This record gives sequence, C-alpha cells and structure tokens, in this order.
Amino acid sequence: MTRPRILTGDTPTGRLHLGHLVGSLENRVRLQDDHECFFLIANVHAFTTRAERPDDIRRDTIEVVRDYLAVGIDPARSTLVLQSEIRAIPELTFLLAMLLPFQRVMRNPTLKAELADKQLEQHSFGFPLYTVGQCADILAFRAELVPVGEDQAATIEMCREVARRFEHVYGGSVFPIPEVLLGRVARLPGTDGVQKMSKSLGNAIFLSDTRAEIQRKMRGLYTGRQSATDPGDPDNALFQYARAFIADPERVRVLAERYARGDDIGDGEIKAEVAEAIDAVLAPMRERRAAYDGPRGEAAIIELLREHARRASAVADETLARVKAAMRLDLDAAPATAERRSSEAHLPAPPSSALAPR
Ligand code: TRP
Repeated sequence: MTRPRILTGDTPTGRLHLGHLVGSLENRVRLQDDHECFFLIANVHAFTTRAERPDDIRRDTIEVVRDYLAVGIDPARSTLVLQSEIRAIPELTFLLAMLLPFQRVMRNPTLKAELADKQLEQHSFGFPLYTVGQCADILAFRAELVPVGEDQAATIEMCREVARRFEHVYGGSVFPIPEVLLGRVARLPGTDGVQKMSKSLGNAIFLSDTRAEIQRKMRGLYTGRQSATDPGDPDNALFQYARAFIADPERVRVLAERYARGDDIGDGEIKAEVAEAIDAVLAPMRERRAAYDGPRGEAAIIELLREHARRASAVADETLARVKAAMRLDLDAAPATAERRSSEAHLPAPPSSALAPR
C-alpha cells in the first residue's frame, strides 16, 4: 500500500521555536503514521544569508535534527533529508528555473517578505534562487502534501505552478500537484507582543528552553495593560498564547471573559498559567532530546543523516531520471528515438506564451 507523500523542512538558522511547532511540526508528528514523510534540513539554503559562516550552519543543522527528534519525529517511520546530500536537488533546481519567468520568482510574496525582514543592503543571486530550489525539494520527492507555516504558502503556490507548467510543456506525469497544509495557529506572535515569532527578531520561545527561561520570557511579554482592573484585549498576544497552549478551552474562555471586563485579573497570573501550559508541552521534548545530547548524540545524528540520505537519494534520483526522460535529456534511451517522436506528436502543443516572461 502506498501512503501519500509529505515533504517539508526547515532552514537551519538556529533552534526551532513555538512558531515552528504550531505552524508545522505538530502536523508532521501527527501525520507520520499514515503518510510517507520526508523532513528536509535545508542546509544549502542557509548559505543564502550566511555564506561566510559554514561552521554555524553545520552546528545549526545538528540542532535542528535534535529539535526534530525531540518533538517526536520518529526516524524509524520518517526520513530525514539533509539537502546537501541529495544531488538530484540542485540539478532539478536548474531545470525548473528555466520554466519560471524571472519576474514571477521575484514577485513571490514569501521572498519579498524575507528580503524586507532581513533588511539586507544587497543579496546574493542565490537568495531568490533558493525559492526555485524549494520547489525542487518538494518535487524531487513527488510530494502531495507540504505542511508549512503561513509565511511559506506563496512559495508552495509557485511550486504548484511550476509542476503544472512542467507537465504542460514536457508531459510525463512526473509530479503530483502538491497541496499546502497550514498549522492550527496561522501566525504566532513573539514575546514582543507585536511581530511574528522569529529567531532573528529575538522574540522567540525555543523548544529547547528550560522551564525558567519560559517563565522569564512570558513575564517579559508586552501587553501594554496597566492594572488588573483595566479591561484587557482578549485577542492580544498573551491570549493568543493562552489559546494555543492551554489545553482546556473552557478555562481559556473564562480567563478571556474576566480579562475583557478587567475583573481583577492581572497579566502576571495569566502569564504564569500560560508559562505552565507551555512547559507542559515542552517537558516530554526535553526527555527525548536528552538521548541526543553531547558529542555522542551528535555522532548518532550524523549516522542517522547518512543512512537516511541514501534512502532519500534513491527517491530523488528516480524523479530526476523521469524528469530527464520527459525533457529528452536521457541519452541512454537514445535508440528509442522513433517511439519518442511519435509520442511527442501526441503532446498538446504548449502555447507560445508558456515560456515568455509576464
Ligand atoms: N524555506 C523553508 C523555511 O525556511 C524551508 C524549506 C526548504 C522548505 N525547502 C522546503 C519547506 C521545502 C517546505 C518544503 O522555513
């Protein structure tokens, strides 16, 4: 029986946080049983912004795998994909890049938001190219479902477009059109109470934070409320956390109601209760993470990545072979020219605009 395939992943720019958890990681853990899952560590993409810091990228790659294993991604059921080990991915990136108009890539809202957020004076050629690379990550595994946070949705849309265009131009039925799967919380604010949670903004609660760190960060959460009798906004960042992490919705409802009325309820008590709830979610992760601590843990992770890369490469290599066959780049099959010519005659002719920039 074949299970629907999933591919998603993370760029190793640091440890993963609660935003990643509610945006995508929870879905991954939940879907492992009835899907064939590939979880990719996009270490090549990390060079888009940190090309001169390869040691940091290596360290963060290991940290992301620790986070994956801690959160409950099970290496016995799911395949970890270290991007730099999969040779078919850069090759597919190059081929797909020919099917995407330059302006289309530059218009991608995910890319534009990232370029704006990072406030770079200039960016490498590789920065926009990474979005095409992301399409290749997904399509190399012929994934049907891509669990990501809302910020990535526009890139997945571009992936759908390029998959359709490939089929239109070359045929071959190589790629399913992948669907995006968003998390239960669209956008989790950071502890600044305003911007989305992000490591680079310094407003993140990490999956690897201790109980004391969680409490400290929650205490510092900005709400702007002055006293326990001020009517509060039950949709502020504090309550977005309460809704995301307090398990009992009835309890959240009661708190929100008292908060809105300013019914003698201080931010401090709610923060303490939310911190408790977050700690309860993260506590089992700490235990699982402990098994991969230190140099011995790192060695085990590297072994895992090596073994999984073999499995992953086999899948991606098969995709690439099918892609090349569809594109008539398969020199080995040259004797079949006559047959291929006749099949080409049956292909619908692509409109002449199919490749023109818009
Ligand atoms: N760009 C994604 C991020 O930074 C990581 C990523 C790379 C990815 N390749 C992917 C996500 C393929 C989903 C599918 O979060």
